[in-house]
Amino acid sequence: MPEVEHPGDATLILGIGELTTNAPGTDGAVGPDDPTGVVRDAALLLDGGRVAWAGPESACAAGVERVLGRAPDRVVEVDGRAVVPGFVDSHTHLVFAGDRSAEFEARMAGRLYTAGGIRTTVAATRAASDDALRANLRRHVAEALAQGTTTLEVKSGYGLNVADEERSVRLAREVTEEVTFLGAHVVPTRSAGDAPADRDAYVDLVTGDMLAACAPHARWVDVFCEIGAFTPEQARRVLTAGAAAGLGVRVHANQLGPGQGVRLAVELGAASVDHCTYLSDDDVAALAGSWRDGEGTVATLLPGVEFSTRHPYPDARRLLDAGAVVAIASDCNPGSSYTSSMPLMVALAVREMGMTVAEAVWAATAGGARALRRDDVGHLGRGARADVVVLDAPSRTHLAYRPGVPLVHAVWRDGHQVVG
Ligand code: NIG
Ligand code: FE
Repeated sequence: MPEVEHPGDATLILGIGELTTNAPGTDGAVGPDDPTGVVRDAALLLDGGRVAWAGPESACAAGVERVLGRAPDRVVEVDGRAVVPGFVDSHTHLVFAGDRSAEFEARMAGRLYTAGGIRTTVAATRAASDDALRANLRRHVAEALAQGTTTLEVKSGYGLNVADEERSVRLAREVTEEVTFLGAHVVPTRSAGDAPADRDAYVDLVTGDMLAACAPHARWVDVFCEIGAFTPEQARRVLTAGAAAGLGVRVHANQLGPGQGVRLAVELGAASVDHCTYLSDDDVAALAGSWRDGEGTVATLLPGVEFSTRHPYPDARRLLDAGAVVAIASDCNPGSSYTSSMPLMVALAVREMGMTVAEAVWAATAGGARALRRDDVGHLGRGARADVVVLDAPSRTHLAYRPGVPLVHAVWRDGHQVVG
């Protein structure tokens, strides 16, 4: 999703039954304590690819006159529908080829999920042409956009040699600025012929030539810190080398069992630690205590994984009650969570993880933005990027109340209507 060069015309959206701004100071927001800044019977003005004004429709004539000083180029009536900020999906693995539906079927028949399945996708990805990988990537980005995702992070991690990891981050950069180098996904099999002798030798490669080739295309470095993937010591090497190359830090941890990954992420100042399915009290306290001056480590929960692997869902309530900042994301990948649907993540978070609808919608928008250390997306306050989702429903509650129903009526991105 590269930036659009020409900002959209000034568009006034009228007849919004329930507007979620995530900007509590917004004119007409119900209750200053509501972090989702809801305005009822609202209007929203987009101009130059940004939110120019938001507030009650009754105040919109004066608001438009003040900030625009002329009639908008376009007026859109949404007939009482709900509007939310574009979803920010801060965790996907969309550079891949092939599928693993047979593995899913075996799992549903009782087999366990292991990190080993990643190597199946590595073989298919290495064998695919650039054009095939690009087409698959773009198909999934379009699929996500149709479901309201306007900001998307994409990881590498199915190349696992210098050339294929470099190719993965390069292709990812064609569709998003949020590119993550995940050369340390698993250690590749030796049968590939080009794999190093052991795990530590592979970490040498990741932190050496592979990082040098990938860092210019990436904003983030990530590592799968888990039994069957990389130890905390190896993860530390990968993350500190990435940080030294100028990349921000994010971590996959505590997905399949307890471990030290969450505390390592907090110690290294990671923007986010993702999965967080098996947490100790110390992990929860470390996440909650990581926040100073609006910056800390987000706990990003990925309920599509638990849906697809039958592990227990992470306990969002416990994290929120302790004061941690929680995001939810799809983890879209062909192994552990083959869905790009953020509305489904909201539904699962509410039904299975103890979140209220307001908390889940915030986590899928502003939470994702925090996890990417972005303040221009995930909200509809003045000056935010004009990323807007109109739901075919009178309230955001329907995202959880009507699971599996396509509720995205229209989407604006950068002020341009891209869906509907
Ligand atoms: O986030 N946990 C590690 N990586 C992915 C799974 C990738 C795969 O199974 O192909 C995840 O769940
Ligand atoms: Fe992942």
